[in-house]
Amino acid sequence: MNEALHETARTMVSRPRGILAADESIGTMSSRLEKAGVEVSAENRRAYREMLVTTPDLSRGISGIIMSDETFNQKMSDGNTFPLAVHNLGILPGIKVDTGAKPLALSPDEKITEGLDGLRERLKDYVSRGARFAKWRAVIIIGDGLPTRNALHANAHALARYAALCQENWCVPIVEPEVLMDGDHTIERCADVTRATLEEVMAQLELAGVDFAGTVLKPNMVVPGKKSGQQASPEEVAEATVSVLRAALPDSLAGVAFLSGGQSPEEATANLAAMQKHDTPWPLTFSFGRALVDPALKAWHGEASLIKEGQQALFSRVEPNSAVLVNA
Ligand code: 13P
Repeated sequence: MNEALHETARTMVSRPRGILAADESIGTMSSRLEKAGVEVSAENRRAYREMLVTTPDLSRGISGIIMSDETFNQKMSDGNTFPLAVHNLGILPGIKVDTGAKPLALSPDEKITEGLDGLRERLKDYVSRGARFAKWRAVIIIGDGLPTRNALHANAHALARYAALCQENWCVPIVEPEVLMDGDHTIERCADVTRATLEEVMAQLELAGVDFAGTVLKPNMVVPGKKSGQQASPEEVAEATVSVLRAALPDSLAGVAFLSGGQSPEEATANLAAMQKHDTPWPLTFSFGRALVDPALKAWHGEASLIKEGQQALFSRVEPNSAVLVNA
C-alpha cells in the first residue's frame, strides 16, 4: 500500500540528484534580500524563487524543491502556480509545513518546533495542490548542559507526529533534526549529540508507526563547532558522520539528504564527496539551502537583467554536488 510513498522517497534521493531547499520563511528570506541590497517585498521574494526554479537543466541535478507556504501560493510570470511549474520541469514539489522553532518552555535557551495544530488539514490541502513531500525542521543546540533530554524528546516526538500525518496523506516526510554548528564544541561532542538526537528521533518514528522506507532523513553533517578553532578534513567529517548514521539509523530508511548548516558551499560539497567513499545502506545526497543559493542571490541581487547570472551561479553549485554523486 505504501509503494507510491516508497517510489517518491526513492526518487528524491536517487543519484545523481539532490533536493533544493528554497523554503526560507518570509522573515529569513526578507533579511537575506535586505543583506543582498534587494528591496524587501513579496514580489521580490517571488521573483527570486522564479529565477531559481527556471534555471536551465535544473532537473539534471535536482529531484525536488522545498518551498515555503508563501511561494506555494504564488504564481510564476506565465500564470502557473509554483508547484505546477516545478512538476512540469520534472522536479517534485515539496512544502515546509512547520511554523518555526520557538523557545522551549522552562528551558528558554532551547527550541521546540511548532506547527502540529491543523496540520492534517493543511497537508490535505497542499497535497491536493501538488505537494509530493514535506519538511519539518527541529533545532538542537549544543551548549553548557545542552541539549537537555527534554529538548531531544519533545523535538523528536513532534517530528514523529508530523511524519505520521504526512504518510497518512500520501506525502513523504523529510525529517530534519538539525544539530547546530554554532558554538565552541569539538567534532566529538557534535558526534555524541547527533547520535543521541538521531536515536531519539528514530525511536519516536518507530513508536508512531512511521514507514522508514517512505521517509527521507535530513541531518547535519558531524563537524566541529564554528567557534571551536578545530579543523576537520572532509575525510574526518565523513568518517564521523557515517559512523553516527550507521549506529543510529535503520537500514530500511529511504535515504539521507544533508543540510549545509552554514558551511561554505565548497566545504559542503567536499564533505559530501568524502561521504560517498563509504559503503552505506542508504543513498547519501544533499538537500542544501545556503550552500546552493547564496551565490545565486549575490549574482542576481534583484536585477531582472541579471537573471542568467543568478541561474549560472545556482547551476555552478548544483553541478559539482551532482557530480560527486555520479562518481560515487
Ligand atoms: P541550509 O543548507 O542552509 O542549512 O538549509 C537547509 C534547510 O532546509 C534548513 O532547514
